[in-house]
Amino acid sequence: MDKIIVSPSILSADFSNLERDIKKVENAGADWVHVDVMDGHFVPNITIGVPVVKSLRKITKLPLDVHLMIENPEKYVEPFANAGADILTFHYEAVEESEIPQIIKKIKSYGIKAGISIKPNTSAEVLLRFLDIFDMVLIMTVEPGFGGQEFMPDCAEKIKIIRQNSPNIIIQVDGGINAKTGTICKNYGANSLVAGNYIYKSENIEQAIKSLKN
Ligand code: DX5
Ligand code: ZN
Repeated sequence: MDKIIVSPSILSADFSNLERDIKKVENAGADWVHVDVMDGHFVPNITIGVPVVKSLRKITKLPLDVHLMIENPEKYVEPFANAGADILTFHYEAVEESEIPQIIKKIKSYGIKAGISIKPNTSAEVLLRFLDIFDMVLIMTVEPGFGGQEFMPDCAEKIKIIRQNSPNIIIQVDGGINAKTGTICKNYGANSLVAGNYIYKSENIEQAIKSLKN
């Protein structure tokens, strides 16, 4: 398997010290910066939006991996792309299937990567017909909305189905990832791990990131 892309979720960082906390993971070997955007409708929580992504763009050269947990994601492709997102991932459950090709086309028109995510109750099969047009699939291993929840092993099994059908797509996993659950996901074929609490609450961030890569 290729190199594992580790994407620390800033949801677990100190929002009054975002620059300091992003430098911390950057210096500790993070590959991407995972930004959780929530609108209080698609998920029962509100986090951050376009202005914060714009500010983050100024303080890090790492790719900004923006996870949109919002309704009507198509409306926000342009502002997030212009703000500096490098990967834009939206939820399958937030759109009509027929709109998907059009949304990807829009994301790609900005020269950035397009990802699609599924919640725990959505089957992997719904994504199979779209694997050729996406750069990344994001499998949620918790109900989206909050950091610090427990990993759902049944959800991780979906990785196998995606990997069997696409040798090259990036498969990212998000929710309750630590060294142990990360290994399960990598063994199933995942090659990108998001981790919030495991990285940010760790005594040794460098070691935590390394444990996800090995
Ligand atoms: C949850 C978010 C995650 C979250 C992960 O809805 O999408 O990115 O920050 O946090 P941990 O790793 O603590 O489960
Ligand atoms: Zn996320």
